[in-house]
Order: sequence, then C-alpha cells, then structure tokens
Amino acid sequence: MNKTGFIFDLDGVIVDTAKYHYLAWRKLANELGFEFTQEQNELFKGVSRKRCLEILLEIGNVKASQEQFSRWLVEKNEDYLSLIEEMDESEILPDVLKVLQFLKKHNMPIALGSASKNARPILEKVKLMDYFDVIVDGTHVAKAKPDPEVFLIAAKQLGVPPKDCIVFEDAVAGIEAANNAGMLSIGIGDDKVLAEAKFVFANFTEIDNQFLNKLIGLTP
Ligand code: BG6
Ligand code: MG
Repeated sequence: MNKTGFIFDLDGVIVDTAKYHYLAWRKLANELGFEFTQEQNELFKGVSRKRCLEILLEIGNVKASQEQFSRWLVEKNEDYLSLIEEMDESEILPDVLKVLQFLKKHNMPIALGSASKNARPILEKVKLMDYFDVIVDGTHVAKAKPDPEVFLIAAKQLGVPPKDCIVFEDAVAGIEAANNAGMLSIGIGDDKVLAEAKFVFANFTEIDNQFLNKLIGLTP
C-alpha cells in the first residue's frame, strides 16, 4: 500500500503566529498614519510578505517608492522577529503534538509547506524540527498560495504522489492551493470561511484517533 504524505502549514496551524504578524503590520500602518484591524489581517493569512505589504498600502492608500517598499518590508520583519524572539513550546497550538506523534508512530512522511521565510527558526524555537522529514518554506517557492507550488515541491521531496497527500491549512488561499495540487485538504478554523476544504475542524483537539486511522488507511 502506498504511504500517505502529510503536509502542514505553519502559521495558524502549528503555532498562532498570526497575532504577531498582525502586531507588526499594525505598527507599520500606524507609523504610516492609518489603522489596520484584526479583520483586515484575515486577508493576510497564507499570503507572502511582499503581497501583504502591497495590500496594506492599498488599505492605507499609500504610494511607495521601490526604496520605501523594500525598507518597510525589512522593518516589518524586524519587528516580527523581535515579537517571536521569546517564542517557545508553549505556543504550539493544542493537540498539534498529539497528531504529529501519532503520524510519527505510524511512520508517515511529514512535511512543512509554509509561505513564511521564518519557518525554520520558528520550528527550532518550538522544538518541532525533528518531526519534519521535509521543510518547504517561503525561501523555496516562486509562486504564492493559492498556487499549488509549495505543496507540490513538498510532495516531490517526500516521494509521495500529490493524490496521496493530505494538507492541513488555516488559510483560504492555502486550502485552494491544496485543492489545486490535487491533494486532500483539511481546514483548521472556521468551516464557513474554509468552505472549500474537504474536512474542517476548529482545531486539532477535534481530530480523534478514529479519523487519523482513516487518514493513514488503517480503517476504511
Ligand atoms: C504565512 C502567513 O504563513 O507566511 C502570512 O500566514 C505571512 O501571514 C507569510 O505573511 C509570510 O511570512 P514571513 O514570515 O515570511 O513574513
Ligand atoms: Mg497559515
């Protein structure tokens, strides 16, 4: 029997870093003279840093020179990095470890598929590096989600055909990317927002062993 490949998004699936991204973007928006709400931050989930800045400037109706644009990207990331500096295992979202340990116990291939260029240092901080056979992050991809590139690279590196891969995602763009890759998409979050996902759970505490056994093909 073919193995199933498991691909996890990072931000909002493994750790709740969306709040730190939000604080860093809000600081920049405030410096530029406008407000940036939590609601608007929803648009930033799964979206590359560069695209986030483009959207932020559209929201604030701010025009930027090339030089300003590059400087603000660096500034936002520096603020974000200082916010995540103290991050540790306590910030792993509930029952993520339970699922990772279950998959490891059954020798399932596991990959990270994230848009973030900060994915590796974050996995190191929360001490989860050892669970991942493959890490594909924002430094490896040219096309952002909903393009399936990040997940297709992960599948290739895992040595598992895309149709045998399962993706855990919290972003609409990420669910679309998984569907575009021909993979089974599992949304983590609000089922109304993630309506395109094959299955949706509010968080990993809702995923039980019976469902996990089905995913790895132990039970029909
Ligand atoms: C995604 C986040 O995982 O990574 C986005 O959901 C973020 O909000 C993107 O913009 C890029 O992250 P980073 O760490 O490279 O700025
Ligand atoms: Mg995410």
